[in-house]
Order: sequence, then structure tokens, then C-alpha cells
Amino acid sequence: MEPVVANSIPLSPPALDRVLIFDTTLRDGEQSPGATLNGEEKLTIARQLARLGADIIEAGFPFASPGDFEAVQKIAEEVGTEAGPTICGLARATRRDIETAAQALAPAAKGRIHTFIATSDIHMQYKLRKTRAEVLATVAEMVALAASLIPDVEFSPEDAGRSDPEFLYQVLETAIRAGAKTVNIPDTVGYTMPEEFGRIIRGIRENVLNASDAVISVHGHDDLGVAVANFLEAIKNGARQVECTINGIGERAGNASLEEIVMALHVRRPYFNPYFGLPVESEKPLTNIVTPEIYRTSRMVSNLTGMLVQPNKAIVGANAFSHESGIHQDGVLKHRQTYEIMDAQTIGLQTNSIVLGKLSGRNAFRTRLQELGFELSEQELNKAFVRFKELADKKKEISDLDLEAIVNDEIRQIPELFRLERVQVSCGDREIPTATVTVLTPAGEELTDAAVGTGPVDAVYEAINRLVQVPNRLIEYSVQSVTAGIDAIGEVTIRLYHQGLGKTFSGHAANTDIIVASANAYVNALNRLYFALSSEPASASQREAATQKV
Ligand code: KIV
Ligand code: ZN
Repeated sequence: MEPVVANSIPLSPPALDRVLIFDTTLRDGEQSPGATLNGEEKLTIARQLARLGADIIEAGFPFASPGDFEAVQKIAEEVGTEAGPTICGLARATRRDIETAAQALAPAAKGRIHTFIATSDIHMQYKLRKTRAEVLATVAEMVALAASLIPDVEFSPEDAGRSDPEFLYQVLETAIRAGAKTVNIPDTVGYTMPEEFGRIIRGIRENVLNASDAVISVHGHDDLGVAVANFLEAIKNGARQVECTINGIGERAGNASLEEIVMALHVRRPYFNPYFGLPVESEKPLTNIVTPEIYRTSRMVSNLTGMLVQPNKAIVGANAFSHESGIHQDGVLKHRQTYEIMDAQTIGLQTNSIVLGKLSGRNAFRTRLQELGFELSEQELNKAFVRFKELADKKKEISDLDLEAIVNDEIRQIPELFRLERVQVSCGDREIPTATVTVLTPAGEELTDAAVGTGPVDAVYEAINRLVQVPNRLIEYSVQSVTAGIDAIGEVTIRLYHQGLGKTFSGHAANTDIIVASANAYVNALNRLYFALSSEPASASQREAATQKV
């Protein structure tokens, strides 16, 4: 059967009978306030995205900072193998951005430059101060430059959702003629409604003469809560690449969530199949995503970015598969499908998977971590194994979730500038909460101080503040347990704000003792803040790029 979409225009090459998943967690997702990731964390997430089966990983914005450049380069080197995903780097439509991106992507077997420029009147007039003719000329020149450096080029007309359609068609035709293999349509401000977004994609396919020479992609933000709905409408109208993030993290209200799009296409295959020219009953997957890796990826991204997942979040929220009401429980016990449209195991959520215990050795530990996708150095493995043994003394049965919490916690502690050496609290209903804390400074000095507070955690934070002396405001504190049971590991996530930098920093730590986890999470966030204070972008142009919101 010939692939046909809603408007009955046959999809000519490069028509795909599946949707390419372009993950931008490490680029657009990382723009969430406080979600800053270090190089090691980005690499860990990129490896997991490859296991998840993402077709393209947007690893960063190489010109934005030396740190971003290095992270993209490292991911290109280690994850961008022949059998691995395409590694993409973002670049504004300027020579220096594009050349820097090409350099960072050089080690990848399959690299892609994603270059963009705004095309809405409001952006061109107030932000770019360019005329339409100037923007068109820039598109032709910069896409051609990118294509001369790397064969795989993607072009985005930023704020396409609010651009004049006729001008948008002209821009896209120019970009494709200059060598863009993918044209991405961003709803940058999350303004468009699903039916309108579908119409934009259809309009492009009907009016851009060379549209069939490129894959049409979509990108969108969730300001009005319809980003995923917009994408599904776009797919029905011929879009064959979606740009999304794990847990929907991203600028403002976030990006379209990868797991929601993938599972909508998976669960409702009979509904979507005809839009791909497939028989209704076809069981052919509509994406390459390995769905049992979804839950693990979600947890990893949440742990490493410090962005908590709301309990009622579709697919990966803690309540997504739990039934509270008696009527629902009764129905599920009688026949699961009465209230469940998908199986928790499809996304890799296995309850009670006990994997290791007190007697498990180093080999079993290493093997299980490898199976979970963690590649640790000998030194990291040693540290994690010590943590595992400590945990096994307190907790009889250790699940995959516990192992992931330990390892993510170890990875998360980089950069380790200040280190928590000891923490002791005294509190109770007749006590003034008091904490004594010992911290090792970056210079290797051991400092101890004590403080009182409104509660034990407040006292610990006061004592740490006296030692570290980096002014900040704590804006969020939360504790969650990794598994059920009184001996569960507690995960503490915090966010603090630094007035001078105007930025939020997150911290995360896991321990069976939540006071220790709280202290470590705070030191972790302070280390990030301290690191940012000591490594402001060096040059004026990098500073400008780093502050550029895209
Ligand atoms: O939201 C947006 O427009 C973007 C572009 C760079 C694709 O992130
Ligand atoms: Zn975006």
C-alpha cells in the first residue's frame, strides 16, 4: 500500500513508515532552570538514550561554552558509533557557530548540524533586526556552509508557529535547496493548537516545491499543555521526525515528552497505522524506541537533572499505573484491561524485582550494572561497591531501582569541590535542633562547625552555610523514597538560587538516612554553584552565546 497521510498527498522519498525520534533532552531539556548537567552526566544520559533507541541525540550547543563543546565532542566520540545514533549539535545561523559545531561533531560516525534562525515577524523585527530578504539570504548561505562541512544538515525556522506561512514556505524551499535534509518546524512559544499545527505541516507539504526532498520534523513547547497533541496531529499530516525530551523537561513549561508520544503511537497503533500507509492491524512498531527502557531513562534524567517527575505525569509518573479507588481496584483484579490501557512492563516498570543481596559479590554487582547500562571505571565501581555493601547491611533486598539510585548518586557528586565528611544532629520534641558538620574544602582543609535551626535539616544547612560561605537561597526541598518499605533509600532533591548569577542550581543525593542525603544534596548543589562561579564563560562572544535563549 502506498503511504498516504490525511490530506491524501502521497509521501514521496524520503517518506518513512515510522517516526524518527530526535531526543533533545541534553540541549533543549537542559535549558530548564536548574537542570544544568556536567559532562559526565551528559555522557551517562547519552549512553542511555542510545540504549533507548533514539535515532538522533541533540547533544548540546557547542558554541555556547567550552563545557558544551567538550560534552558534544565526547558524546560524538563515545556514543556516535557506526551502529549508534546520529549525534547532533545546535548552531545559530552564523559562521562561527556552524564551524564550531562541525568541529565538535567530527568524531561521530553520523553527525548532524542543526542550524536555525527566526522567521516570525516579531522575532525578525525585535530580536534579529533583519528584513525578510536578509533572513532568506542568511538561510541560503549558512545552510550551504553547514552542508559543506557535514552532509546531514537540519534547518529550523524558529517561531515557525507564528511565522507568515508564505514566507515560511520560501524559507524552507531555500533551506532544502541549500542542502538541508531535515526541516524542523518549531512551535517555539507553545502557542499553536493541534489542528492548526497539523495544517501548517500539510501546508508545507502542499506548497514547498521540494518538500519531498527533506524529512519534515516538529519541535514544540508545552506552554498551553498541547505539545504532544500538536505532534500527533503533525504526524497524521506527514511529519516523520519528532523532537522531544525525556519527562518533557525543557524551557518554561517544557518540551513535548518523548515517552508520551512514543506510547501514544505504540498503544494506539491501529489508529495511526493508516497514516503510515500500513494496514490497521499491522503490528510493525511506529518508532525504533525500545519501550522497556523508558522508565529507567526517565528515572536517570530525573535524578541527574534534579527535575522531579510529577506523580500524575502520564506514562512515567509514580501514580501512572496505580489504582486507588475501590471500584478501579476491583475492576483491575477481575480483568486488568478494565482500567489499564497499557502494561507497566511495556515501559520497563517491574515491581519487586529483587536482584542482589548482602552476599552478592563484586562480579554480580558489576554484571548487573553493565546490564543496566552503566559503564563505570574501576575507581567508580569500587566506590559504588562500597556504597552497595553499606546499603546491603541496612536493607535485605536490593532492587534495580536501588542500584540505579546508588550509581546516579555517585555520578551526581561531580564536581566534588566540597565534600561532606561527617554530619550529626540532635533533635526531638523538647530539643533545639542542632547540627554539627565537617566538610573537606577544595584545598583539602577539614572544617567543622555547628548551628541550630528550625528543624534538623535546617540546622544542617545552616552549619554547611557557615563553612562553605556561598550565599544562596534554598527554593525547593523534597524527599522521595526509591522503593516501598521502612528501609527504603530516600532521595533528596533540592534547588537553590544565586542572586548574582540569576540562576538556579539543583542538588540530589540518595541514602537510607535522609539527614545524610539532605546534607549531601545541599553540598552537591553548592558544588555546582561554586563551579559556575569559578568558571564563567571566558570570552565576550561565548558569554553572549551562553546567555542566548534558543
Ligand atoms: O524552541 C525552539 O524554537 C528551538 C529551536 C532552536 C529549534 O529550540
Ligand atoms: Zn525549543
